[in-house]
Amino acid sequence: MDNIVIAIAKGRIEKDIYKRLKILKMEECIETYSRKLIFKDEENKITYIHVKPSDVVTYVEKGVADLGIVGKDTILENENDNEVYELLDLGFGKCKFSVAGVKGKNNYTKEEILKVATKYPTIARNYFKSRGQKIEIIKLNGSVELAPIVGLSDVIVDLVETGNTLKANGLEIVEDMCNISSRIIANRVSYKFNKNKIEEIVNKFASTLDK
Ligand code: PRP
Ligand code: MG
Repeated sequence: MDNIVIAIAKGRIEKDIYKRLKILKMEECIETYSRKLIFKDEENKITYIHVKPSDVVTYVEKGVADLGIVGKDTILENENDNEVYELLDLGFGKCKFSVAGVKGKNNYTKEEILKVATKYPTIARNYFKSRGQKIEIIKLNGSVELAPIVGLSDVIVDLVETGNTLKANGLEIVEDMCNISSRIIANRVSYKFNKNKIEEIVNKFASTLDK
């Protein structure tokens, strides 16, 4: 049988993923500080690829990766999220999506078109649509908290973990939207054909959840 390919999201949750792989003694093939993007674990018949979080779903959806480890935020933002199975909530990378704005200045009404700055236009659009609030999206790529301060937007939709970034910039939460954590996702076809091997890997990860 071919190796199972696992796409790992680079960045925020990477450390937590390695921690689990280390507990499972499955991390030996990975050179953590190298620029290499693909690692083969011949013993366990697993290939790891390192990709940008937003690309994990694409690799899994297209079947190039059998499994992916990525934040629920990235899954929700991807329009093809229905094409993959979500197999396990890993419980790390915990944070939430919130609507936030400048302290004391968040009395907007349903009648006005709210300017929303965000890195997550799909999530923001779906959320406000379900609330019957008209919005204009201002897509940014980071430092979103700046937007309402300088008048680029009325509010932001962004991830909140400790709340430190909001606090440091004089913003407050207007509404909490949903909780987020890291997930294991699978390609649908691959899951069907490699069920035993995939479940074995997922169960291994599940055994590290309380560690
Ligand atoms: C993320 C997120 C928030 C912040 C939340 O930004 O977009 O700004 O972290 O964490 P906190 O509640 O603990 O402060 P990140 O640092 O990834 O930078 P970016 O938004 O500029 O990409
Ligand atoms: Mg940020």
